[in-house]
Amino acid sequence: MVEFKLPKNSKVKIGNKYTESKEIKKSKILSVYRWNPDNNKNPQLDQYEIDLENCGPMVLDALIKIKNELDSTLTFRRSCREGVCGSCAMNIDGTNTLACTKPIEEVKGKIKVYPLPHMKVIKDLVPDMTNLYAQYATIEPWMQTSSPSPTKERKQSKESREKLDGLWECILCACCSTSCPSYWWNSDRYLGPAVLLQAYRWIVDSRDDNTGERLDALEDPFRLYRCHTIMNCTSACPKGLNPAKAIAETKKLIQERR
Ligand code: SF4
Ligand code: SF4
Ligand code: FES
Repeated sequence: MVEFKLPKNSKVKIGNKYTESKEIKKSKILSVYRWNPDNNKNPQLDQYEIDLENCGPMVLDALIKIKNELDSTLTFRRSCREGVCGSCAMNIDGTNTLACTKPIEEVKGKIKVYPLPHMKVIKDLVPDMTNLYAQYATIEPWMQTSSPSPTKERKQSKESREKLDGLWECILCACCSTSCPSYWWNSDRYLGPAVLLQAYRWIVDSRDDNTGERLDALEDPFRLYRCHTIMNCTSACPKGLNPAKAIAETKKLIQERR
């Protein structure tokens, strides 16, 4: 039988326990992944018991409470608290989602919180997004036109504008890409659903003149065609978007122009 060895210091150990107080009225425990690159120790799961009577309704509220009242070393990203910046994406209760829009009430029992899967971890719940942002830059996510600049805005018909619905709402949280098995194994060459949805957003924008060049750049066995329509991406998107459909439409456009 083949025997696999885990890399040194990779096994997740049982960590510390923290409690808000001895008189908790409505108890909830969060089990949170912790890893500090500076102490050369294994990752660990710390347990935090909080009182939901003194906590906001979302998982992000619980994490902020823990940081403010129980353990200031806990590290995570957040900004808007409204589901629009994408920075609080993490794996909660086994699903990639936004901590600020995930109600605590939806999780039965202990809330397990991990960083987004299959990304390098910078610290605790903070994933390294360097590769994803570099891939995003390769699709040149800005309007490219050959026509002279208008004196006012570039006009678009109502029908053309509607083609961007379901695309412009993407907040680049990476919940989809980090749910995609193809992206787990090929993130060095496959662009993944988040970046491909963004690429499609510019391909179908009636004001952009570089549609052909954009399709040329994607016509590649790895960059686009590593998508095998598994649909994990669409199930994971906390904004209800459909990256798998955007990828399928891109493939269709490439096929049609042949
Ligand atoms: S549909 Fe494509 S992008 Fe989405 S999870 Fe499956 S392989 Fe990944
Ligand atoms: S498509 Fe959805 S899950 Fe993917 S990056 Fe955009 S908002 Fe996040
Ligand atoms: S804090 Fe901005 S999306 Fe959650």
